[in-house]
Amino acid sequence: MEVRRDPRSFLFFIILLLIINSPEPQSQNFHTRSQYDDVLDHEWDELGILNRTRYGDFDAGKDKWLNISGLREQDRFAWDLLGPVQQRATEQVKGLLGTTADAFLDGTTDDTGQFPIYRNVSGYVQGEWVRSSLGRVRKPSDLNTTAIPENTPFPVFEYDRNLTGSGGRLRIHITELEGRMQTDENRTVSEITARVIIGDRGSIGGNWWEFVLNGVHFPQFGGSVLTTTSERFAGIFALPHLQLSPRLYSASQELLNRTIQETIERQTNRVYPIWNPWSSAVDGTSEGMLTNPHCEFVLFLQEHPVQFQARKEQQTLPDDIDMNWLEHELRFPTGSSLPPHSSLSMSMVGFSPDCGFVVESKGPPNYPPSEYVHLVGSKTEEFNDRARHGIVAFAITLFAQLLFLIKQMKETATPSTRNRVSFYTIAMLAVGDGFGFLALVFLHIFIGTSQLALYTTAFLSLFSVVFELRFLMDIWTVQATEQIRQERQQASSATQATTPTPNQASPPTASSPTSAPAELPLPVTAARPVDTTPIIIAPDQDDPPEPTTPTPGGTPTATTPARAELGSLYSRYCLLLIGIFFITLQFTTVRSTARAFYFNTLCFLYLSFWCPQIYRNIMRNCRKALRWDFVLGQSLVRLVPITYFYAVSNNVLFSQTDVRALTVLAGWVWVQILALVSQDILGSRFFIREGWAPPAYDYHPLLREDEEGATMPIGSAQAPDDDDPMSMSKAGESKGKGKKVFDCSICTQDIEVPVIASGASSENAPGMSGMILQRRTYMVTPCRHIFHTPCLEGWMRYRLQCPNCREILPPL
Ligand SMILES: *[C@@H]1O[C@H](CO)[C@@H](O)[C@H](O)[C@H]1NC(C)=O
Ligand SMILES: *[C@@H]1O[C@H](CO)[C@@H](O)[C@H](O)[C@H]1NC(C)=O
Ligand SMILES: *[C@@H]1O[C@H](CO)[C@@H](O)[C@H](O)[C@H]1NC(C)=O
Ligand SMILES: *[C@@H]1O[C@H](CO)[C@@H](O)[C@H](O)[C@H]1NC(C)=O
Ligand SMILES: *[C@@H]1O[C@H](CO)[C@@H](O)[C@H](O)[C@H]1NC(C)=O
Ligand SMILES: *[C@@H]1O[C@H](CO)[C@@H](O)[C@H](O)[C@H]1NC(C)=O
Ligand SMILES: *[C@@H]1O[C@H](CO)[C@@H](O)[C@H](O)[C@H]1NC(C)=O
Ligand SMILES: [Zn+2]
Ligand SMILES: [Zn+2]
Repeated sequence: MEVRRDPRSFLFFIILLLIINSPEPQSQNFHTRSQYDDVLDHEWDELGILNRTRYGDFDAGKDKWLNISGLREQDRFAWDLLGPVQQRATEQVKGLLGTTADAFLDGTTDDTGQFPIYRNVSGYVQGEWVRSSLGRVRKPSDLNTTAIPENTPFPVFEYDRNLTGSGGRLRIHITELEGRMQTDENRTVSEITARVIIGDRGSIGGNWWEFVLNGVHFPQFGGSVLTTTSERFAGIFALPHLQLSPRLYSASQELLNRTIQETIERQTNRVYPIWNPWSSAVDGTSEGMLTNPHCEFVLFLQEHPVQFQARKEQQTLPDDIDMNWLEHELRFPTGSSLPPHSSLSMSMVGFSPDCGFVVESKGPPNYPPSEYVHLVGSKTEEFNDRARHGIVAFAITLFAQLLFLIKQMKETATPSTRNRVSFYTIAMLAVGDGFGFLALVFLHIFIGTSQLALYTTAFLSLFSVVFELRFLMDIWTVQATEQIRQERQQASSATQATTPTPNQASPPTASSPTSAPAELPLPVTAARPVDTTPIIIAPDQDDPPEPTTPTPGGTPTATTPARAELGSLYSRYCLLLIGIFFITLQFTTVRSTARAFYFNTLCFLYLSFWCPQIYRNIMRNCRKALRWDFVLGQSLVRLVPITYFYAVSNNVLFSQTDVRALTVLAGWVWVQILALVSQDILGSRFFIREGWAPPAYDYHPLLREDEEGATMPIGSAQAPDDDDPMSMSKAGESKGKGKKVFDCSICTQDIEVPVIASGASSENAPGMSGMILQRRTYMVTPCRHIFHTPCLEGWMRYRLQCPNCREILPPL
């Protein structure tokens, strides 16, 4: 009875997990306030420099330095790279927008209204990056190590975010908010934030980093300049000096002068200090004292002009499309049809002023446009649409799954049918759905929209979990009772072989529930004489006599240990689920090789859900446990989301596609289905050797004619009491071909059964292979009654008792 778990320990476990996973709180010593004031003073100083300086005041080539962290000469950053990188960025702008852009950058024209670009670049773009030959490799010793905060306790061998390979994947999520804070009067410049996820193919295990950059966006021509900001590099204060032209310099200086000032004021008024409001750490905390120093990034992004396709009926390019109207329509749809347009795409040039590498997005003109097209993605609105459609599609698969489950549960309503279903198969399905539920609940943190659709789908998911748990409970109760029954039977078989069956005749009196299994009809195999004359009872007549006797494996009386174990079942389910979920969360941040390995393994284990059923079929020598529409439907429906994440390249979770792994997974499911099918057709043990599985009763024995008919079924139709002349002649006729005719007492029709003559050995009997399928047409019970397979299978769904003599039948 000690199985019931203490719920407090469970709660404790969850809290422990939460504590482990939560970011460590920033330690606040008593002198932090003065440190904080120092930081603020430093920021005011640097803002003053931003305020005072002019275009060209910072130029490493001309030995002009600024008193801003990272821009001083003694910091020894690789600022000589800035010139060539700016040149590359300018080339990119000109290549995409033509000479008008050049004139605009120079400030000789203001006329940029006709660039067909999105004014709001909120959204994401992804693609490949490639290392440019402009850059070089710099060692940590090339930098001024005294500039590193002195509380770094260990020598630095390699910086974080140091791209060492020649290429990799890159994804940029851009957020551009509206409001006075972020933009100027005419929206010529606005502040943006970008979250960059950059993978390095050259590193061990495919390392990748995620960090945040801040910068400015010029909606008039679609360019952006972004930078990281840290203690070693005050990127945001240096941003105007990184711009491509004097015009952009002054625009960004004007904006940053105001926004930085407001940010510092807010920083001053905070109760809890924010050490770095422009931190590049993803969770917004300032970089901890003990973390490795990291490489800084400066990125130049240029949006590509939007391409419109001519609509067929119009035959003209709608070149007068107002981008403002298009964007407004995307964001606040009024139902007007939008012209087909290309998605948000960008080119990128970036460099690290300290680590010295230069990266570019892969695409034309250096790479064929058929292979690489720089960075492509979609605007937030389109992404949200896609996410919503994905969620609705997932809801539909959940719904289908629920329907299959309910149908199966209806079919599996009797104890004997429940006994066949593998508990672990259903448990795996339930864990999968529970995982889906947790994922949906937390997904809105990642997707950030479609909350209603998400939660509705999560509810649907929870609904199927509830159904599955209910089904599990039914199965478990039946199978636990069956197990107890078998154990008692084994334990008592020795005593009952000698003592006469005591309470067989007397109806059971009201008794304690724990003794219920003992009252089940006792096995009579030992006592029954072999040559008892069969009692033929029509199936509809055998019920009334003893209504109080529980049927074997019938409605089980819920015993106390059963309940306690059921409780532990639920807590085990929850623990397992939460455990898997947190492990999965941890694995989302590891190197990509390990992550891919983990997710492939997880999916493989999950998609092995038919294996326990195959195993149970073998061990119990049964088949027909699950409906075919359940098997096929569940396999299909559960492959759909996995296929989506493995095969669709712009899926909502940005998972890396891997068609090879998907093929393996789908093939594995297919192999399991094949195994189930062949078990159904050829017998559940056809692919394993004799003796590997425990002995189980074989309902389809090979009938052999021996001397006294000891293995022959009772009630052969050739017996003299059969007065049907047709049957007589048939029996006589087929006997010569090694067949016998029996009578099925369920449908009262004849059964023609192949029989091996007494002399012949089974190996050289003719037509042995054909008999495998023929043997499936009849079933012989342990009490040697013979029936049609469909007849007895139908019967056994309700009752595990021989229709003729009421002996207990082993489950199918
Ligand atoms: C910026 O410069 C102006 C004068 O040009 C001065 O009045 C203002 O206080 C300065 N702002 C900051 C934050 O230093
Ligand atoms: C640079 O600024 C710091 C304060 O931020 C100041 O202490 C230092 O004297 C300045 N150095 C120069 C060369 O102006
Ligand atoms: C490193 O920086 C410190 C100030 O942060 C400066 O005093 C020192 O000269 C620099 N070292 C080199 C080699 O430039
Ligand atoms: C960056 O990686 C390269 C190649 O592994 C290495 O030589 C260099 O020292 C690293 N740079 C930094 C700053 O860690
Ligand atoms: C840009 O679009 C996003 C997504 O619709 C929106 O949240 C944001 O406010 C927009 N920004 C501007 C400046 O319009
Ligand atoms: C905004 O546009 C108006 C009219 O085009 C112009 O008068 C004004 O100077 C502009 N403001 C800024 C800050 O450029
Ligand atoms: C920066 O802002 C201040 C007011 O906050 C203003 O007086 C000054 O002129 C601005 N500087 C520049 C260069 O725009
Ligand atoms: Zn029949
Ligand atoms: Zn029988």
